[in-house]
Amino acid sequence: MEKFALVTGGMGYIGSHTSVALIEAGYQVVVLDNLDNSSEKVLTGIESITGQTPHFAHTDLRDVDAVLEVFNEYPITSVIHTAGLKSVEESVTNPSKYYENNIGSTITLVKAMQTAGVSTLVFSSSATVYSSSSKPPFDENAKTFPTNPYGMSKYIIEQIMADMALADSKWRLGILRYFNPVGAHPSGKIGESPSGVPNNLMPYLMQVAIGKLEKLPIYGDDYETPDGTCIRDYVHVVDLARGHLAALEFLENKNGVHFWNLGTGKGTSVLELVKEVEKVIEKPIPIEMKQRRKGDIPIVFADVAKASSQLSWQAKYSIEKMCADHWKWQKHYSDSRQ
Ligand SMILES: NC(=O)c1ccc[n+]([C@@H]2O[C@H](COP(=O)([O-])OP(=O)(O)OC[C@H]3O[C@@H](n4cnc5c(N)ncnc54)[C@H](O)[C@@H]3O)[C@@H](O)[C@H]2O)c1
Repeated sequence: MEKFALVTGGMGYIGSHTSVALIEAGYQVVVLDNLDNSSEKVLTGIESITGQTPHFAHTDLRDVDAVLEVFNEYPITSVIHTAGLKSVEESVTNPSKYYENNIGSTITLVKAMQTAGVSTLVFSSSATVYSSSSKPPFDENAKTFPTNPYGMSKYIIEQIMADMALADSKWRLGILRYFNPVGAHPSGKIGESPSGVPNNLMPYLMQVAIGKLEKLPIYGDDYETPDGTCIRDYVHVVDLARGHLAALEFLENKNGVHFWNLGTGKGTSVLELVKEVEKVIEKPIPIEMKQRRKGDIPIVFADVAKASSQLSWQAKYSIEKMCADHWKWQKHYSDSRQ
């Protein structure tokens, strides 16, 4: 039987790379997206990489009837659920928007899946579910305690999925806790294109690199880390995309709910990342040291042993490759807008 995957949020950063990986692995892909944070141009990027244009449903995942129609139209066998809002800062100022969109759309999705008889789902969760009192590296059993509405929305969805698996053994649910996705497809044809001022470090760095932003603010250089700046676990988005395939493969033979960290297991400080980007762009990045931000955890990196043993998945790409590929995309993206 042909494998038919629905990718919610498939026009977005992680969803588009995952769609490419699925098509390359022989899946038929249906992208469902409301284009809230993406553009239909992504379809052209996917097409030029894979030679195939995914089916596209311009649909809001909270619209029950429209989502059911998508399941009626295509013989979907599994779902990758990346659709969601992702700004921690915005979630603090507008929590109901985050709970309504992220949780509401997930409920609509799983109800539609039940109606359509589809029981395999891989969900985009986040390392933000872990408690700041946990000690790195975080394994999947580390204490969870999100400190903002965005992280809480992910945590609640994880709990909903765990309850679904308890209530009905037919569910095959994979929860992927991403660490810090960066980079872009090596072709430079798809990547991350945040609207407005970026919230995340790498897109911010890239906009300083092209001269769109003046300098990079670094929040705190007095943490207990070797250079005083915060340490995170950056993972190449193409490695992450492969992780979704590995999870789908695992779920072919396993019911229940399963949690995996996707990261490299290695930490890189803010200043180290700045240096890597400087090497790629061959010029210095202007920086500005600022006070620590409330809520930032000094050191976050993943224990990736479970994904390695259960999924045979390991991140392949180095931090150099992440920076080089992100830069290639940034240049292509900026050039195409001149
Ligand atoms: N990028 C990261 O740093 C990161 C880290 C951890 C987890 N995640 C999670 O991974 C997922 C994908 O992240 P991303 O970086 O690709 O974000 P993104 O914003 O690039 O992609 C999300 C996509 O979902 C779509 N969308 C949002 N709400 C929708 C709705 N109600 N109906 C239909 N489409 C909707 C948006 O238009 C967008 O195309 C998100 O759920 C995010 O929370 C991302």
